[in-house]
Amino acid sequence: MPATVIVGLQWGDEGKGKTTDFLAEQTAMVVRYQGGDNAGHTVVRGDEVFKLRLTPSGVLYPHITSVIGNGVVVNPVTLISELDMLMERGIDVGRVRVSRSSHVIMPYHVALDRANEERLGGAAVGTTGRGIGPTYGDRAWRLGLRMEDLLDAAVLRERIERVLPDKNLLLRSMDAETFTVEELVAQAARWGERLRDHLDDTTWLVQAALARGQHVLLEGAQGTLLDLDHGSYPFVTSSNPVAGGACTGGGIGPLQVDEVIGVMKAYSTRVGAGPYPTELTEEIGAGIAQRGHEYGTVTGRPRRVGWFDAVPLRYAVAVNSVSSIMLNKLDILSGVDPLRVCVAYEIDGRRVETWPSSGAALARARPVFEDFAGWMEPINDVRSLADLPENARRYVTAIEQHAGVPIVLVSVGPERTQTIERAWRPMRQRSGIPT
Ligand code: GDP
Ligand code: IMO
Ligand code: MG
Repeated sequence: MPATVIVGLQWGDEGKGKTTDFLAEQTAMVVRYQGGDNAGHTVVRGDEVFKLRLTPSGVLYPHITSVIGNGVVVNPVTLISELDMLMERGIDVGRVRVSRSSHVIMPYHVALDRANEERLGGAAVGTTGRGIGPTYGDRAWRLGLRMEDLLDAAVLRERIERVLPDKNLLLRSMDAETFTVEELVAQAARWGERLRDHLDDTTWLVQAALARGQHVLLEGAQGTLLDLDHGSYPFVTSSNPVAGGACTGGGIGPLQVDEVIGVMKAYSTRVGAGPYPTELTEEIGAGIAQRGHEYGTVTGRPRRVGWFDAVPLRYAVAVNSVSSIMLNKLDILSGVDPLRVCVAYEIDGRRVETWPSSGAALARARPVFEDFAGWMEPINDVRSLADLPENARRYVTAIEQHAGVPIVLVSVGPERTQTIERAWRPMRQRSGIPT
């Protein structure tokens, strides 16, 4: 039984949490494959709201094994408090498995991330300040600590003794707090004790599930335009949110993936710095931000808001080999008239229809818009495409044509049931639900 990847097609916060929760019911396992507690995935079940940072968004279902894969960087403090929060709210976390090979975000990574951003001043990336870049940096430089290291005091001490002098030197040079070996070893050993029962060889867990014929969902964090390789470097995160990242970070091979479900919202947002051609600075953007509650889940920063941009959409569909799309937050556009969709850029006087790999070129891009008539009525209670206002259907169809793959799910509210399903959608047949 093959696996399905859920991937953000924009700059993150597309509603991956809602999408994963919606689709997870029919799966046995949900795997987070990259990123760390820079992510904030919201799941709304009835009137309960869950903001998940590390635990995959399938965790609310008692039958699902939730896996934090090897490609994730784990801040144990965040993970422990998230597990506690879920337990307090009656969610069984016994099935949460954490890869022994995933890397640990240490306090010095967080301090380095923050001090470095401060030092960059106006050139800062606007990171979430969670130590993501320094942790992935150490992983690549082979200086990292892995979750399994938390279980062995001797290894812990040896690793920390080896790296800490350099970290402290750098921190001191930026007038930031420094750390001692003793405090870090003691802290890390406590995390190990608390998380011991959750650690596992998750690659084999995932492979065994697939071999048993169970369906596995792989949930990405962030989005394609924040991808370390495919986003507008350096205004990106430090991992690969793209679908390919699900293979390296989840422990599967490309031929084990049969569906890639792209998640996007009906407009765009971006948190942090970096080029953003369709950014809306006028009142209309503020209205969308307010209705869409566009504030960062992790940092509380206001998200930048913009019109829907079809140029990176076409790129995202290609690099992720997206097979179908869930379009979220269509309800937020009720009352916006006209609606604009960016269909191309003008760069240095030339029309460009492909996403430029150069961040500098992107910063010079001016959007070429196509306008659509809006609709006034609320659509939160609509449950079929046919019942959407005609102008909403036109807007969805236009976006679908740009994507070149079907939009199979449309979300009209944060709650699980506020979802419109196309007659055909991935993973429906498998569950035996009649089409
Ligand atoms: P993620 O990081 O991709 O999981 O997205 P976030 O959870 O950070 O941000 C999406 C926000 O939009 C959350 O507050 C969701 O509850 C909310 N949301 C998701 N889908 C919809 C929708 O269709 N309509 C509305 N109004 N809100 C939605
Ligand atoms: P989810 O999974 C939106 C952004 C930061 C910054 C850049 C680098 O909820 O969609 P980092 O802390 O990763 O080094 O910051 O990436 N960023 C996100 N933006 N949603 C996210 O996650 C993000 N995670 C990181 O704002 O621009
Ligand atoms: Mg988010």
